[in-house]
Amino acid sequence: MSIVEKFMSMEYGPAPEDPREALAWLDRHGRRFGHFINGTWQAPASGTYFDTTDPSTGEKLATVAQGSPADVDSAVKAARAALPAWQSLTTHARARYLYALARQVQKHSRWLAVLETLDNGKPIRESRDIDIPLVARHFYHHAGWAQLLEQEFPGYTACGVVGQIIPWNFPLLMLAWKIAPALATGNTVVLKPAEYTPLTALAFAHICEEAGLPAGAVNIVTGDGSTGEALVKHPDVDKIAFTGSTEVGRAIRKATALSHKKLSLELGGKSPFIIFEDADLDSAVEGLVDGIWFNQGQVCCAGSRLLMQESIAEKLIGKIQNRMNTLRIGPPLDKAIDIGAIVARVQLERIQRLVDQGVAEGATCWQPSIPVPSRGLYYPPTLLSNVHPTSVVAQQEIFGPVLAAMTFRTPREAVELANNTVYGLAACVWSESINVSLHLAAKLKAGVVWVNCTNLFDAACGFGGYRESGYGREGGREGILEYLEPVWFKNAPPVHPTPLAMDQPPEPAADLSAPPIDRTVKLYIGGKQARPDSGYSMAVRGADGRLLGEAPLGNRKDVRNAVEAARKAESWGKATAHNRAQVLYYIAENLSQRGEEIAGRLSAVVGKKQAEAEVRLGIERIFSYAAWADKYDGAVHNPPFRNVALAMKEPIGTVGVICPADSPLLGFLSLVMPAISTGNTVIAIPSEKYPLITGDLYQVFETSDLPDGVVNIVTGHATELMKTLAEHDDVDAIWCFTDEAGAAAVKTLSVGNLKQVFTNEGRAINWFDANQGKGRWFLDHTVQVKNIWVPYGE
Ligand code: NAI
Repeated sequence: MSIVEKFMSMEYGPAPEDPREALAWLDRHGRRFGHFINGTWQAPASGTYFDTTDPSTGEKLATVAQGSPADVDSAVKAARAALPAWQSLTTHARARYLYALARQVQKHSRWLAVLETLDNGKPIRESRDIDIPLVARHFYHHAGWAQLLEQEFPGYTACGVVGQIIPWNFPLLMLAWKIAPALATGNTVVLKPAEYTPLTALAFAHICEEAGLPAGAVNIVTGDGSTGEALVKHPDVDKIAFTGSTEVGRAIRKATALSHKKLSLELGGKSPFIIFEDADLDSAVEGLVDGIWFNQGQVCCAGSRLLMQESIAEKLIGKIQNRMNTLRIGPPLDKAIDIGAIVARVQLERIQRLVDQGVAEGATCWQPSIPVPSRGLYYPPTLLSNVHPTSVVAQQEIFGPVLAAMTFRTPREAVELANNTVYGLAACVWSESINVSLHLAAKLKAGVVWVNCTNLFDAACGFGGYRESGYGREGGREGILEYLEPVWFKNAPPVHPTPLAMDQPPEPAADLSAPPIDRTVKLYIGGKQARPDSGYSMAVRGADGRLLGEAPLGNRKDVRNAVEAARKAESWGKATAHNRAQVLYYIAENLSQRGEEIAGRLSAVVGKKQAEAEVRLGIERIFSYAAWADKYDGAVHNPPFRNVALAMKEPIGTVGVICPADSPLLGFLSLVMPAISTGNTVIAIPSEKYPLITGDLYQVFETSDLPDGVVNIVTGHATELMKTLAEHDDVDAIWCFTDEAGAAAVKTLSVGNLKQVFTNEGRAINWFDANQGKGRWFLDHTVQVKNIWVPYGE
């Protein structure tokens, strides 16, 4: 072929990357790897190994150790032993280690990119230009957090030994997302890479050696799901961070329920890619190529559901098909390849199965006529159109290069379709109208929204999901908090077995300002006083055994009614912060007016001194959250692209709050006020010991312009009510501040829709202590950050 002919056809010749350096490294290890524990390579206790292969050829690359519980135990022991020395380093010293890791990653970038492509099957173009540069960026960014830790997070300390389990789609990048914040905050790590892609984690172990990281600070144990399970269940692990399937995320939530392990989950997604008729369609199509065909579609935030405005659907489909015809699928080490191999045969079969199912459900399947290699695990880029929103291919994560296309007419319909999923990881909006784009960005239930862009990530911008896409963020300030705990909380003793009147016995009865006998309160649902469905009530007695009154015995039905009322009041989240602050101030004002009378009644249970303190500090606490309402702001990040990322703190939604038995008034206010100050609606179960506080509270709320349904109160047996609340699919978060059993119960019962869980872990909180009873620790649990990426600048 002459040069002129080549120019005319514009065909690519092969441009293979040289794998020799990566293969030589494998050879130097005899193509056989043990675990990396305590700074040394250790053979697996069971003597069992498994193969890892190149999915583009099926050829074996190396043999790696299958981790057993004994191996996990050695790694956890090494991490525990390394912890004191690692924590006693200055923050500057830790920053230097992270910096050294960043530098080593950069120096080895080509070797790492090739190794990643060999083991995973992703195009070298992506591992070279995206994965590895982002890995280095993550270590640099976190070197900075290590340096600034004391100034930026005073009063916080590391969780301790952290167990981390990662998937195979971005092996080294997910490692970086996990290890960098953990080390920066003074934790030590046991990490288990995915069984299909262990090699770059082992290469990272090598980098840790080169960087002179203290032995035991990072331990890598390879193996399959059972190894991950052993790590999750190990009693001496303080935190688990997991990225992977929602199914395994659920199993991990259950497995950690009876422990105090802190947990963050980054799970699946079914992200919408929304294109309006006024969008720059050619750019949108390029965005789509990145959105769904990047990494063969094996991306948790892949734009796998295309929502097109009806008026442009036909034209757009034509453009997409034209572009699909130019995609190149083949050997991933070829620098001109767009789509590489699928990671494993079981994944390939799963993709095919789901596509077949979609077609059986009525979807039209279109694939370009481009050559697909017959050897290796390849799946062609696929477009499914005429997809019904309830079809399996519109609902389930396919995790392959498959796009499911649907149409919408109005922005409102786009939002409804987009949010019609159990997931909430990411979303893309393409429109030239900033009004339409930002209107949608606010309404989409997703942890990240890309406006006229796709798949942008940066270490400074927290990444993570809403709903069943998990909880916790990776990256940025939010990501750091996942690896820290308040010092006081870490050291708090267990809750007092008889929590009421902890250190202040009630005054003798004669000294009490006479409480009214036979006082009967009601439930408070949707802004109205309500009788309990059961028709029963329970007797409430004072510390001296005297009958103080009757409180309703709420049941499942009452809780459900309360949830419905809370859901209906969701517009509270859209009220201005100033408006919410005003309502809170008004609540404080009205509480203050009734303060003496409320303290008088409360003193029969907790003593006069405590009762007065609860009212006084209660008023002050409401003032604090009124003050924070318009100051607990988000941020604007400046990632290294031509974008800004608006980090919006959004309310989680409807929150179930099981209040502590002690401090019936102050405990209630210390939990419910932060939740509503940021726009959540609440179903509260007040102290079972003194539910009569409900009557005082609703009288205050009724006179304070609090919209109906923002706070709902159901009295009764806490364990029974908690069960309905924790299992309810319309509740987004569950907080329990009773005892250890309560904490374990809500963690177990909330797995259905993976509610965000916040508990006292059965530890005593001194609500009278301003350091413990209020502040950002509570506020941080009332919001989830949504990062909205908007093009900015030239
Ligand atoms: P997976 O969730 O089983 O694997 C992820 C990691 O968890 C691996 O390291 C695995 O060894 C470990 N693991 C498995 N079972 C475990 C257990 N019981 N306890 C602790 N760790 C455990 O994902 P899999 O099977 O590789 O892929 C299946 C589907 O999951 C994919 O098709 C995709 O839909 C989804 N997925 C989503 C990811 C995401 O980033 N959101 C990543 C990987 C998979």
